[in-house]
Amino acid sequence: MRLQIAAANWKMNATLEEAKSLLSKLAEFDSSTLPNHHKVIVSVPFPYLMLAKEYLGKKHGFMVAAQNCYNQPKGAFTGEVSALMLSSINVDAVLIGHSERREYFSESNEMLAQKVNIALENELTPVFCCGEPLSIREANTQNEYVAKQLKESLYHLSPEQLMQVVIAYEPIWAIGTGRTASDEQAQEMHAFIRAELAKQYGQELANEISILYGGSVKGSNSIGLFSQPDVDGGLVGGASLNADEFIQIIQSLS
Ligand code: PGA
Repeated sequence: MRLQIAAANWKMNATLEEAKSLLSKLAEFDSSTLPNHHKVIVSVPFPYLMLAKEYLGKKHGFMVAAQNCYNQPKGAFTGEVSALMLSSINVDAVLIGHSERREYFSESNEMLAQKVNIALENELTPVFCCGEPLSIREANTQNEYVAKQLKESLYHLSPEQLMQVVIAYEPIWAIGTGRTASDEQAQEMHAFIRAELAKQYGQELANEISILYGGSVKGSNSIGLFSQPDVDGGLVGGASLNADEFIQIIQSLS
C-alpha cells in the first residue's frame, strides 16, 4: 500500500522560540492511531533540525526533513550543508528542487539529479519537487514541462532507487498564492506523472510511488485533494506554520 504523507515545509520561517512552540504542539498530537501507511514529514530550517529530532524523533509515523542539501559530498563550499551531515544527525528526508530553490538559487534539473543521488547515497528520502509556472499552464504545456523535469532529474535511477523517492507536484502558480489547483487539476497531473513513471519503470513500481500535491493546501481543501486517487497527501507551506491546522491536514490523509 503506498504511503500517504502530510509534509510540512516551514521554509525560512520561525525564530527558535516559535520553532519550539510549533514542535511541542506537534509532539503533543497523539499519532499512535495513525495507520502505518500514513506518514508525517516535518521540514524545518537547518538550525532547528536537531531540535525537531528531539521533539519528534521517536514519534510514531513522524519523519524530520531538511529543505535542501548540496550536490557535493564535502569540502570547500562555504555556507552549504551536505547530505552526510544530515544523515549524521539522523535526519530522515530532504526536499530536493523546491521551485523556490530552482528560481532563486538557479538549481537546474542536472544539479537536482546529483542532489537526488547524494541524498540516496546517504539514506535520506528525497522529496523531489516538480511543477510548472503560470505561463506554462496558460500555454497548456504543463505535461511536457513536468515530464522533462522527471526525465532529467530522476530517470537515471534504478527501480530500487526510484522506490525510495517521494514526488511532490507543486504548480508554481498555486504556491503561497491562495490559488489552489482544483481537485481535478491535481488529479489530472498526478495521474499523468504516474503514467510517465509507469512508461519508464512499469506500472507496478509506479503504483508504489507517493505523489504529494503542494500549493496552498489548507485545512479547508485537504480532504478534497487527498481523496483524489492519485494524490497521496500534500506538501504544505503556509498552513504548516499553524500546528492546529497542520494536524487537521494530517487527519485528512485518506
Ligand atoms: P504553500 O507552499 O502551501 O504556502 O502554498 C507550499 C510549498 O511551497 O511547499
